[in-house]
Amino acid sequence: MYTSRKINDDLYWVGANDHRLALFENIHPIYHGVSYNSYLLLDKKTVLFDTVDWSGARQLLENIKELLGDRKLDYLVINHMEPDHAASIEEIMLRWPDVKVITTPKAVQMMHQFSFPVNDNLETVKEGDTRCFGKHTVTFIYAPMVHWPEAMVTFDTTDGILFSADAFGSFRALDGKLFAEEFDFDREWLDDARRYYTNIVGKYGPHVQTLLAKAATVEIKMICPLHGPVWRKDLGYILDKYQHWSTYEPEEKGIMIVYASMYGNTENAAEVLAGKLAERGVTDTRLYDVSSTHVSYLISDLFKYSHLVLASVTYNLGIFPPMHNFLADMKALNLQNRTVAVLENGSWAPRAGALIRKELGEMKHMTVLDESMTITSSLQEQNLNELDTLADALAASVK
Ligand code: FEO
Repeated sequence: MYTSRKINDDLYWVGANDHRLALFENIHPIYHGVSYNSYLLLDKKTVLFDTVDWSGARQLLENIKELLGDRKLDYLVINHMEPDHAASIEEIMLRWPDVKVITTPKAVQMMHQFSFPVNDNLETVKEGDTRCFGKHTVTFIYAPMVHWPEAMVTFDTTDGILFSADAFGSFRALDGKLFAEEFDFDREWLDDARRYYTNIVGKYGPHVQTLLAKAATVEIKMICPLHGPVWRKDLGYILDKYQHWSTYEPEEKGIMIVYASMYGNTENAAEVLAGKLAERGVTDTRLYDVSSTHVSYLISDLFKYSHLVLASVTYNLGIFPPMHNFLADMKALNLQNRTVAVLENGSWAPRAGALIRKELGEMKHMTVLDESMTITSSLQEQNLNELDTLADALAASVK
């Protein structure tokens, strides 16, 4: 049965939701699923904006067929070639062999790399090119590295609708709803939206900034992303989040404490520190075990909070591997502009602290507090003064 949703008189959501996929990109857990959005414009010409992941192809086809009736599909606009959106191109072409595919030259190259059977039916567009489909005229805007190099967004100048590709997307399935105002977005979705942005597009903040600058030159009334809800109210809310995330500016003054602990002693030190912070009035804190928290959640909260404490045991004379992986992900995603304190543990040759500092030194604009501390095996009474000094420094910095 079709699951399409009407957006306005001419435009429909015809995508699919996926609750079965455990790991997005086979790496990020998505306990609440994900949507693959595709949009169908019924104008003098019929136009499909992007397809869906292979797993949603059947749903996509049912949705399109119900709306098209006896009409044929004239155009397929591909804004983004990643297979979670483009994998169903072949299915579309099998049903509507005369469909013209409109996309960027780089996307065409990728279509050949992915062995999609597109040859005579391709129309490439340049930045600023326009196409008129009847009542609706669209402009194509290049959006390289948001999130792949071939990406573009399409702006419907008639209705002020931005087909924004991965930008403004989110994890979570739509579950029958479509518009952001149909959810309590801040409570239900924001964490997943942030986790999606930071882990998928987070590395490319400057490219997102370039896209936001281009978007500021047109009057956007609605945003139709490739994942998550459609925005037609309070666009400033999501634009403001993107402004923070893409400039690596924290959303909140708060402290994330991430610990790596083998037998609970480093964990204990982290917990004592959190208590001391609370005594100093710093309660916007989060404590995470790096071994049992998927790194995508750590990255997401790190984009949210201003301060970070890394507390790590020494392992094989190095950083505990899950902590090392977290640091590598921070570096890979270009995380910057944070204040960090380091606490190390080591029973005979503590080394984690110095090595963590070295990793942080290779990231941009990270402030590492001079106050740091070393514990040997477990926190002792004689360490408490030092921990107080560290708590004082953190509290002064975050306030
Ligand atoms: Fe949702 Fe970059 O694909």
